[in-house]
Amino acid sequence: MKKELRKAIIAGNWKMNKTRPEAQQLINELKPIANGIGCEVVICVPFTSLAAAVEAVKDTGIKVGAQNVHFEANGAYTGEISAVMLKEIGAEYVIIGHSERRQYFGETDETVNKRTKAALAGGLIPIVCVGELLWEREANITEEVVSRQIKLAFAGIGAADAAKTVIAYEPVWAIGTGVTATNEQAQEACKLIRGRLEALYGKSVADSVTIQYGGSMNAQNAAELLAKEDVDGGLIGGASLKAADFGVIIKAATVG
Ligand code: PGA
Repeated sequence: MKKELRKAIIAGNWKMNKTRPEAQQLINELKPIANGIGCEVVICVPFTSLAAAVEAVKDTGIKVGAQNVHFEANGAYTGEISAVMLKEIGAEYVIIGHSERRQYFGETDETVNKRTKAALAGGLIPIVCVGELLWEREANITEEVVSRQIKLAFAGIGAADAAKTVIAYEPVWAIGTGVTATNEQAQEACKLIRGRLEALYGKSVADSVTIQYGGSMNAQNAAELLAKEDVDGGLIGGASLKAADFGVIIKAATVG
């Protein structure tokens, strides 16, 4: 299809790792590696390191993202952070609906939808995460689960906004486990997602949206995964915390 027309995006999901000085140090290590690289490089850092990260990546091509966003713009929501706040601080991306948020923090398809709308309204690029649990894959309902997640995540979102999103296919059984989806499984699911987008928004939107694979993507397996037709990038957890490994992945994305 149109892989070459889509933006290859590699996003590091640092999760709840790195203090501010540690973040600074990792970014310093990443800067020379990311210099002149042909893909979009994003680091999704903890809220506490956002300002420092935005400052540290100035004059580089590296973009900064957050790992969650609340759906209201402001108000009595103790402990939450809005899209307006993220935008103001200089974040450009935000991860939404990560499986850890679904698993541990009560995130649902409905809140994913609300957060996605809030991110778009606030001028952030949402990285919308979908993916099946192990039992769902074993029960052969991956297609049904992922299709439902996409449908609900995008409910009420128009084509122009949908075209601005990034989707991460992250099979939950592959996240942080060291078990990676096979290249074929990743391709199949990313293709399925593109097909759902086509059904909702038409071919040109479907062809333009970057779809990432995530789940134990690392320096060894990235090139093969990223070479797949519908795998346009990666959402990287563990391997994004080591500059050398992340460097290999962003180089693989530039070639793939
Ligand atoms: P992992 O995490 O690369 O450590 O499996 C990916 C993610 O959770 O986004």
